[in-house]
Amino acid sequence: MDLYEYQARDLFEKYEVPVLAGIVADTPEEVKAAAEKIGGVVVVKAQVKTGGRGKAGGVKIAKTPDEAYEAAKSILGLDIKGHIVKRVMVAQGADIAREFYFSVLLDRANRSYLSLCSVEGGVEIEQLAVEKPEALARIEVDPLTGIDRIKAVEIAKAANFDDDLIDKVADVFVKLYDVYKGEGATLVEVNPLVQTGAGEIIALDGKVTLDENASEVRHPEHADLEDKEAADPLEAKAKATGLNYVKLDGQVGIIGNGAGLVMSTLDVVAYAGEKHGGVKPANFLDIGGGANAQVMANGLDVILGDSQVKSVFVNVFGGITSCVAVAEGIVKALEILGDSATKPLVVRLDGNQVEEGRAILASANHPLVTLAAGMDEGADKAAELANA
Ligand SMILES: Nc1ncnc2c1ncn2[C@@H]1O[C@H](COP(=O)(O)OP(=O)(O)O)[C@@H](O)[C@H]1O
Ligand SMILES: [Mg+2]
Repeated sequence: MDLYEYQARDLFEKYEVPVLAGIVADTPEEVKAAAEKIGGVVVVKAQVKTGGRGKAGGVKIAKTPDEAYEAAKSILGLDIKGHIVKRVMVAQGADIAREFYFSVLLDRANRSYLSLCSVEGGVEIEQLAVEKPEALARIEVDPLTGIDRIKAVEIAKAANFDDDLIDKVADVFVKLYDVYKGEGATLVEVNPLVQTGAGEIIALDGKVTLDENASEVRHPEHADLEDKEAADPLEAKAKATGLNYVKLDGQVGIIGNGAGLVMSTLDVVAYAGEKHGGVKPANFLDIGGGANAQVMANGLDVILGDSQVKSVFVNVFGGITSCVAVAEGIVKALEILGDSATKPLVVRLDGNQVEEGRAILASANHPLVTLAAGMDEGADKAAELANA
């Protein structure tokens, strides 16, 4: 789960990472009041879960509460990369002398943690990594020892911080790692980490991604951080019926049983799509072992609710659940959905009682259903139908 900047700021404060005063506000009037409370120069900042807010006009300096009011009027409602701004944070203005970059993240490929750091912060890090890779230090962090004082100094030196700054920034790196570890995060990023005119080091922008697997058990309080309004409506609907669904950007809806089979179905559909106008899988959906009619109907209902979806590929391997139960489930699900089932379905069944299952689907002879003998054939057919 990605957090908003203001939520990251609050977590930073809890772990004594130096941050500036910040107050969230939903209306220009609240922004004006917040600016009065903070006093002096403030910065009105769009709270959306995407970077590059500054460039998009979502970060504005205000010298007076009235200017803050005007800034809020121009920022609230703004569309930043598809995210509509509903809330802003009024932050105390910093006197920035220099901008740095620091992050620590889960490095899945290397089964380790990784810290990225640069004295050239402020710009988007993806851009820096491409244009000036030598300015970005990449230091592996052993999860068992984490970022202690010694590691923090190593990171600061690798990033070429001036000698007189090393101790100061290392202190902040250790605290940021405390956030990462203490909250069960997969990413803690500060861009920019600034040095002020007075020489202080302050985290001016924060991005935190929490590991939801850790949250459930270790951090039940994280549930309060979830923005239920902003959740993808299809994912929210799936969650409500207990389905394992992830929305993707594509046209072929996918239903399968077992995470491994679903993952490989995404691959074969993406591959088949290359021959059919570049269509892609529209989602991950694992209906699990006990695929009864209601589960199948719930799954189809979620997928058909995705306006991007043009066809659906049901790829089920009968194990404990026989293909008979799955076939009956599909037939009943189509009955339950009635007129709301409007898109072609390609079904591939295999495994336990496959012949009987196929016979059930064949005799139901539903106009939307096409039977496929194998996985590749089914993926190809579904991609073709999505491109029709
Ligand atoms: N509290 C602040 N005081 C002064 N300048 C700020 C403050 N917050 C952000 N800025 C300036 O705005 C830039 C962009 O803000 P940031 O929070 O990093 O948003 P984003 O990364 O989404 O563009 C920063 O690099 C910094 O120069
Ligand atoms: Mg930033």
